[in-house]
Amino acid sequence: MAIRIVYSVGKGGVGKTTCAAAVAVHASRTLRVLVVSLDPAHNLGDVLATRLSDKPQEIASHLWASEVDMEAAITRYLDDSSQRLKQMYSYLKVINIEGYLDALKLSPGIEEYATLQAMEELLRAAEGRYDIVVFDTPPTGLMLRVLALPRVSLLWGEHLTRLRREILDKRRTVENIQGERRFVLEGKEFRLATEERDDKVMQELNEYVSRMRSLSALQSDATRSRVMPVMNPDRLSLFETKRAFATIGKLGMSIGPVIVNKVGMKLTDERTVGEIETELRCPVRTLPFMDVEPVGLEAIEGVERRLDFESWIPENHL
Ligand SMILES: Nc1ncnc2c1ncn2[C@@H]1O[C@H](COP(=O)(O)OP(=O)(O)O)[C@@H](O)[C@H]1O
Ligand SMILES: [Mg+2]
Repeated sequence: MAIRIVYSVGKGGVGKTTCAAAVAVHASRTLRVLVVSLDPAHNLGDVLATRLSDKPQEIASHLWASEVDMEAAITRYLDDSSQRLKQMYSYLKVINIEGYLDALKLSPGIEEYATLQAMEELLRAAEGRYDIVVFDTPPTGLMLRVLALPRVSLLWGEHLTRLRREILDKRRTVENIQGERRFVLEGKEFRLATEERDDKVMQELNEYVSRMRSLSALQSDATRSRVMPVMNPDRLSLFETKRAFATIGKLGMSIGPVIVNKVGMKLTDERTVGEIETELRCPVRTLPFMDVEPVGLEAIEGVERRLDFESWIPENHL
């Protein structure tokens, strides 16, 4: 994959969408850009003053925009998971798969996995069509968990692969003593796999591990992806941004400069920009609070002119 990614990350209301739109408009001067919202509380369409849908829509030269239907993404993720489970364990009638799937719907983490799957699908479809994808993301907490998923899942996947290998080893041992094990269920004959190449579970694990490995490599490649943190000059926003820096740093992702948006909104900003820079140990760029909400393509071009958005475009030749 040669696609580049920018993640606009921050608390609700700080200006994630506005800045995502501005960086996308800037990138579209030289690259083919898709700006896409993954925030269940979409407002990309509002900011661009266009009605958007799941299907990317060309809103200017070299610039496409869409909003992912997150409800549908969750349903798709669950359907996908159930399909795979049923295929892998078609012989295991003792396990109540349907019951298990009902519980899965309510399990913690589903929204994160569904968001990651939506991102992955988008990136696959974007390959060759766009040069860069700008993600307007859900609020920080959820987004950090999504960003951590490839790494976390990779560790799990590798562990499960080792366990599966042990199971297959044991099955082989049993088979050597008792002979090949076959059984018939509802007229269909099954044979328990003993070799990796015949084992559906192992194939699934291998595929999963390789997907997570390439996602996590993409995320931590500074020439390919960059996090653009957006905050406001207030204490709560700073706390949240600090936490985001800690997590994103651990994941080895490139981050910054930080956009401090809506400077001058209050009579006195609780934190001066210098203080924020020192606390986060990262360069800061500011955007003033504007009299009129920057809505519509023209207004977003106005935002683009106020900042050098080139700083957030990952370069292939870094
Ligand atoms: N620099 C700014 N000056 C004035 N209004 C702004 C500025 N940046 C964003 N806004 C407005 O603030 C609101 C929230 O911005 P938005 O980009 O939607 O934030 P988020 O996506 O983080 O929730 C919107 O109404 C937007 O037009
Ligand atoms: Mg938004």
